[in-house]
Amino acid sequence: MSDADIGQQARARRHADLLMQGGTVLTPNGAERIDVACADGRVVALGDLQGTWSADTTLDATGLHVLPGVIDSQVHFREPGLTHKEDLETGTRGAVLGGVTSIFEMPNTHPLTLWETDLRAKLEAAQGRAWCDYAFFIGGSAVNAERLQALENLPGCAGVKVFMGSSFGDLLADDDNVLRRILRHGRRRMAVHAEDEARLRERRALVEASGDVRQHHHWRDVESALKATRRIVGMATETGRRLHLLHVTTAEEMAFLARHKRRVTVEVTPHHLTMHAPECCERLGSLAQMNPPVRERRHQDALWQAIREGVVDVIGSDHAPHTREEKARPYPQSPSGMTGVQTLLPLMLDHLHAGRLSLQRLVDLTSAGPARIFGIEGKGRIALGYDADLTLVDLAAQRTIRNDWIASRSGWTPYDGMPVIGWPIHTVIRGQVVVRDGQLMGLPQGKTIRFLEVPGETTVGG
Ligand code: DOR
Repeated sequence: MSDADIGQQARARRHADLLMQGGTVLTPNGAERIDVACADGRVVALGDLQGTWSADTTLDATGLHVLPGVIDSQVHFREPGLTHKEDLETGTRGAVLGGVTSIFEMPNTHPLTLWETDLRAKLEAAQGRAWCDYAFFIGGSAVNAERLQALENLPGCAGVKVFMGSSFGDLLADDDNVLRRILRHGRRRMAVHAEDEARLRERRALVEASGDVRQHHHWRDVESALKATRRIVGMATETGRRLHLLHVTTAEEMAFLARHKRRVTVEVTPHHLTMHAPECCERLGSLAQMNPPVRERRHQDALWQAIREGVVDVIGSDHAPHTREEKARPYPQSPSGMTGVQTLLPLMLDHLHAGRLSLQRLVDLTSAGPARIFGIEGKGRIALGYDADLTLVDLAAQRTIRNDWIASRSGWTPYDGMPVIGWPIHTVIRGQVVVRDGQLMGLPQGKTIRFLEVPGETTVGG
């Protein structure tokens, strides 16, 4: 069947694989009370389909809002090598239970994802085990810089990710010459963890001496983040490369990035929008330790302002599980990172309920935004011919986030005991109901995400 023929038979017979009725559907037109028919994994009809369409399966969406499937473009699922923390099955299970339908996974596994064989091993490991759709980042480093143009175009590759400051794992590219080599060898938008390694090294003694996790955001301070962000944006401008700044945390970076939006896209995490320092570390200790750190209120306010002003393009969870035993090591030996893929949507729905953003903006940040900036094929909106990835939520549901709901092998969330308003109820991926009423259905059927061709207009020195 050719791409153009997909769904044609279903349309001719007005018979769908899945018919979803009674919900308020977030389409590019806004919120509409319409039905959605899905066949061959795609959306094949939208509108009042009552009485005119039949289906193998129906899903009653009365009282629910139907969002385009949530895309989490930053997770660490730890396979291969660190599967005592997480693996592709547990990580993607948490994703779909939390309403996430697609993920991009990060390269700081063991071994690192640096070569075609590493990528292929992840794609093979995901087959038949991933509950949602997936793509994997390739790590950019001194050893593979000249190969990145070929690597980034392999099927299943989400692009290149660079760590400018060491965080968890051995992936690091902190030298300007190496960074320039990486930037010059590729054309896709490059994802960056921007903390300045030299400054982090200089300041490490601060926390070695105190052993106090409340110092984490003083060690990895505003200047560490701002300096790296300025450096990489300067080099990207010089080399004509587009960038994606991961987990931006400071007011100062947001002010700087607002002036570079033509080239640079921006991610924030629900952690940085929800918690603030030092309160989070006083309450949670090293469970709240992550890189870049959760910072003081003024930064959190600036992140929300950047969401309102359109500086932020996507919400990514930076799901980075470690076991409770590992987290209990004395700081700074305790590893940085928290779970987040499963709580991304509940937290953002709670923020929506509190009036911090609109539903339309949320959809832009969690679906349309990632699809647009990474050039994902056929995802990110509810429209004819697009993948039938749907996240059905109850905006009024009052729930409490609990550790025993978390599918991650690490088994914890920093939000244990937190009441929220708004909850994912059903998750549909390519027309398959993967989660119904909060329960997993069937077997894992995740597929590799496809990307559009890179647009050709990136010119050196542009
Ligand atoms: O806190 C973090 N943990 N930040 C990162 O950049 C890496 C992550 C991890 O992999 O644990």
